[in-house]
Amino acid sequence: MLEDRTSYILTISFLKVGVSMPCTVVVGGFFGDEGKGKIVAYLALKDEVDACARTGSVNAGHTVVWKNVKYGLRMVPSAFVYENCKLYIAPGANVNVDIFLKEAAETNVKGRIWVDRRSSIIEAKHIELDRATGGQIGTTGQGVGPAIADRVRRVAKLAEEVEELKEYLTDVPLELNEILDRNGKVILEGTQGTFLSLIHGTYPYVTSRDTTASAICSEAGIGPKRVDEVLLVFKAYVTRVGKGPLEGEVDREEALRKGWLEKATVTGRERRAAPFNFNLAQRAVMLNAPTQLAITKLDVLYPECTGARSFSELSLEAKQFIRGIEEKLKVPVMLIGTGPGVEDVVDRRF
Ligand code: GTP
Ligand code: IMP
Ligand code: MG
Repeated sequence: MLEDRTSYILTISFLKVGVSMPCTVVVGGFFGDEGKGKIVAYLALKDEVDACARTGSVNAGHTVVWKNVKYGLRMVPSAFVYENCKLYIAPGANVNVDIFLKEAAETNVKGRIWVDRRSSIIEAKHIELDRATGGQIGTTGQGVGPAIADRVRRVAKLAEEVEELKEYLTDVPLELNEILDRNGKVILEGTQGTFLSLIHGTYPYVTSRDTTASAICSEAGIGPKRVDEVLLVFKAYVTRVGKGPLEGEVDREEALRKGWLEKATVTGRERRAAPFNFNLAQRAVMLNAPTQLAITKLDVLYPECTGARSFSELSLEAKQFIRGIEEKLKVPVMLIGTGPGVEDVVDRRF
């Protein structure tokens, strides 16, 4: 049973969340791959979102399963599934030009996708350097760290210097802020997860940027006061790719038995796995100040919940798992993933 105070806080939060979420930041709560891509795609369709800005870079693969096609997006925002949504690459992002052009063609978004003129470029030399030196950390070898290092050294090539990007260039912060001025709905799509953050993660086993909610706003050029919702996404268990600590890690056989053995979207490496970690989750709540949570892959812990679309369809144990998270983290769980498809979601906002 919830204590009175917890119950009160949750009730207030549920009322506050309501239906409209003009500016929403979607951020990962563990080590990435929580399923942010699928959640962003769902929100874009359900809320008829006007614009979505992708932060981060091509080291992050966002899986969207839509109309029987599986997309592993590394540049194009996951909101592409909603055809009226404008798509943006944030100024803080790092662009791999070939991957951007290929994905834009594959998802058929030309004419509604733009790149900020100040986003920086990943060049062949960055990829080579990452592959030669990234082994100790277990990087994805996509050149992101070296590209960011060049940006910090003020020697990076910017998008506005690339001929093939000319027709896509714009001022992304200006466009996003103008959409918000007109009461439009905007999603800021984060990458990786809180504990891969360069600042807040398990350094040195981290990625090369801050991955928390504040940094996502900063990368996109949205001031913190303009954000209405911070949606923190957890998977029902924890996975991690590459090196670094993973508390409670289960061995490969057990991960396989539990259905937790995943393959990384970008590198194809096997993801290490562990049970849901409340200590990490609590710290992720502190660092991101979420207004609501999403829990993905509930169907993997509780197969009987596969494809459920309402909370009442969930089994008693699954409901208890969700309620336990709300009780401990004191934040309402508004979205629950029950399958890989974009529409496999229990949406408790309505
Ligand atoms: P990063 O930015 O790289 O951290 O990625 P991400 O958070 O977008 O996650 P990614 O798509 O890499 O990995 C999530 C995996 O879980 C993908 O294979 C998704 O298709 C899958 N997935 C997402 N939500 C659900 C769910 O609710 N149930 C099931 N069964 N699979 C899901
Ligand atoms: P890098 O970001 O390629 O430099 O890799 C640094 C660390 O972050 C490695 O442990 C990677 O496996 C991890 N990493 C980077 N991007 C992702 C991602 O999108 N999902 C999960 N892990 C990631
Ligand atoms: Mg991923």
